[in-house]
Amino acid sequence: MLETIEAAPRDAILGLTAAFREDPRSEKINLSVGVYQDENGKTPTLECVKIAEQRLAEAASVKSYLPIPGAPEYAEVVQQLAFGADHEAVASGRIASAHTPGGTGALRVAGDFINANFPKATLWMSEPTWPNHGNIFAAARVPTKGYAYFDKSSNALAFEPMLEAIKSMPVGDVILLHGCCHNPTGIDPTPDQWKQIADAVYGQGLLPLLDFAYQGFAEGIEEDAAGLRAFCRPEAELMVCSSFSKNFGLYRERVGALSIVCPAADTVPAVQSQVNRVIRSNYSNPPAHGAAIVNCILRDESLRATWEKEVAAMRSRINGTRQQFVNALAAKGVPGDYSFITQQRGMFSFTGLTKEQVETLREKYAIYIVGSGRINVAGLTPANIERVAKAISEVV
Ligand code: LMR
Repeated sequence: MLETIEAAPRDAILGLTAAFREDPRSEKINLSVGVYQDENGKTPTLECVKIAEQRLAEAASVKSYLPIPGAPEYAEVVQQLAFGADHEAVASGRIASAHTPGGTGALRVAGDFINANFPKATLWMSEPTWPNHGNIFAAARVPTKGYAYFDKSSNALAFEPMLEAIKSMPVGDVILLHGCCHNPTGIDPTPDQWKQIADAVYGQGLLPLLDFAYQGFAEGIEEDAAGLRAFCRPEAELMVCSSFSKNFGLYRERVGALSIVCPAADTVPAVQSQVNRVIRSNYSNPPAHGAAIVNCILRDESLRATWEKEVAAMRSRINGTRQQFVNALAAKGVPGDYSFITQQRGMFSFTGLTKEQVETLREKYAIYIVGSGRINVAGLTPANIERVAKAISEVV
């Protein structure tokens, strides 16, 4: 039977990293996958994480199963971080929660939940979006369609077309939005636009699903939750997929969460039971370590302060690098105005490079960029930025 199987296509992002690893050229540069690197090109383990791990190692070790949706204390800190400690939705207990293996795990649980409970719903994704969104919802058998998001000519949000698209979506559908640091464009709505988007989404009778993977990477931990909180209205329904891969640097620990805000606390038990059912038949219950680290940091005043400083340092390096990149492109005489790169937020820059240019960068210069022209700005360092700008000037 196995001999009949054809090879699957390479993953648009992780497949590139696999190819990068196999590339024997010593000068190779990986600007594809969204993993933070410091100015030395290293992905650091955060100081707060090291201390938390030490504390966890010294505490009594328990290796029995976690509950299906994970530990309640973790759910509590996740809700407080995303929605705000004093938020009415948190205080009134109207959020069903699950600790999931990464943000991807949260999206897949959300997809399975939608398929099981709203089998007629279509999920609307921004055009463009993270390539794995399509894979996840196809695997969960949730039909998908696209809505306008990016205006190529102005390198800005296609706000009016987006609103128009929302206003023609059928009642009972689900709309996927990026909570902050839109992947891949780096373009987010303003607070006022978020409000108008939320008005349109609820006015249309849609269920919003927010992918919230970069909290702290745009403007600040609280500031970056503004879009999400624009949806968190009295009695309103909302699903949020959090990831702690980037902001805690816990990529390989696979730690994330799904939060489903219900209209009232008495809706939570049924919703929670359906989430638990989906998880039980998938991975049964979550892996403990990453969530224990996040829980330890967010509950300790001093570790939390260290974490906030470390997130601010990552954010500031990325934002500084954006300006250096624009300067380097100008210095190498790349035609066109690239100042829009400094307006983009989060880890990525959507450069406008074509598929062919991206391919030439990989084949000729050993520079790896995602096919959409998305660059991981956090992969640029003082040692490689000139070379990247020079290569881009040559391919453009
Ligand atoms: C990315 O977009 O590069 C990250 O979210 C990593 C991934 O899993 O694709």
